[in-house]
Amino acid sequence: MNFLSTLRRSMYPPAPVETKESILPADDTSIRETSDGHRGLSIAGATKYFSSQAALSGVSLDIAPGEFIALLGPSGCGKTTMLRTLAGFEALSAGHITLNGRHLDDGSRPLPPEERNMGMVFQTYALWPHMSVADNVGYALKLQGIRGQEYQRRVDEALALVELAAYGNRPPQELSGGQRQRVALARCLVTSPEVVLLDEPLANLDRHLRAAMEDSFRDFHQRTQATLVYVTHDQGEAMSLADRIAVMRDGRLIQLATPEVLYRQPRTPWVADFIGQGSIMKLPGLTPSTTVNGEHLTASLRAWNKGQNTKTTHVVVRPEHVRLSPINTTPRSAMSGLTSNNGTDSQIGARVVSSIFRGERYEVHLRLADGTQLQAYSPTYLAAESAVGVTIQRAWCLEPDA
Ligand SMILES: Nc1ncnc2c1ncn2[C@@H]1O[C@H](COP(=O)(O)OP(=O)(O)OP(=O)(O)O)[C@@H](O)[C@H]1O
Ligand SMILES: [Mg+2]
Repeated sequence: MNFLSTLRRSMYPPAPVETKESILPADDTSIRETSDGHRGLSIAGATKYFSSQAALSGVSLDIAPGEFIALLGPSGCGKTTMLRTLAGFEALSAGHITLNGRHLDDGSRPLPPEERNMGMVFQTYALWPHMSVADNVGYALKLQGIRGQEYQRRVDEALALVELAAYGNRPPQELSGGQRQRVALARCLVTSPEVVLLDEPLANLDRHLRAAMEDSFRDFHQRTQATLVYVTHDQGEAMSLADRIAVMRDGRLIQLATPEVLYRQPRTPWVADFIGQGSIMKLPGLTPSTTVNGEHLTASLRAWNKGQNTKTTHVVVRPEHVRLSPINTTPRSAMSGLTSNNGTDSQIGARVVSSIFRGERYEVHLRLADGTQLQAYSPTYLAAESAVGVTIQRAWCLEPDA
């Protein structure tokens, strides 16, 4: 569905509906239909070489119409390259991209960017300083030959959508960073793209403005139902905005999941470390991709002599699943390290390494008797080297990193 038509329904009384056909040339023969008729954006085995270096290696990803996908990963992992191949600024070396069944790129016949009906927003706003805000927004419409009342209506709608209706006559230099980024968003939306591609759009803004702009993006997505592909290396931004997050590393897609699943069930130690806080341990006798309860985990921790040559599995323990007990209520546990008197006691002893104030709580780093590091939260400050009782409630068992 064309998302500006959805927008118009939500903002205005029924109006003449703009369709893709009114934007694309009537005799556009460059659109090639696939036989499967798949809806949404489909990426299959996307591979991109720069000289002999692979920036993308076999990325496969299906994005539903209206979905908000974040591409998340460290610097140099291929996020921008993925976005640029979707936009048509780079051609694939191999693989396949389709949008609602249309071939965009199959590794040999890339459709040019202007025929893809996508919009892109960059980290740097790239606004023309000699044009007013409204002229910046309307520029692409003029290139399409749209003039008069329709031009004015579409510019006004796009500015209203990003809540800048009163700013049309200003030069961009007289706007704040967040407002300039909203102009860039309006400029992208005015052409009614089916897919909006955003490359770290908030990276130049301070923390408070980022939070406010996150709200703007969330609101914009809800109102338009546009398909959004949003590149970031900020996991907080990805978690708070996206329906699903595609985690990338070294040109590969490592995990595709909702924010909740990514946090609770990260696939590998690298993902577990990259997403959220927590401690990663190696233990024997556990099954990858399962939850292990606290008693089982503690028993495994106690039973394991690290000198043994046993097959081990990585597990991640999130800090909110580590309970701390004051030393005066658990003297035996704290004194006895990893050993247990009755074999069922799930408490183990630990020493505090450090307590870091995080505003609403302290982030506490602990050391178990065998040297294992563990992270927990505490409402109060705990002095370094003090002894505490620890109960691990549950953990998630990981697959090995590739
Ligand atoms: N035009 C190019 N020519 C050669 N190598 C390139 C080109 N563009 C990207 N690369 C390389 O491809 C890899 C992926 O780059 P890309 O810009 O996609 O990373 P990114 O995930 O967007 O990183 P960042 O978070 O720093 O923006 C990097 O190793 C980069 O050096
Ligand atoms: Mg980038």
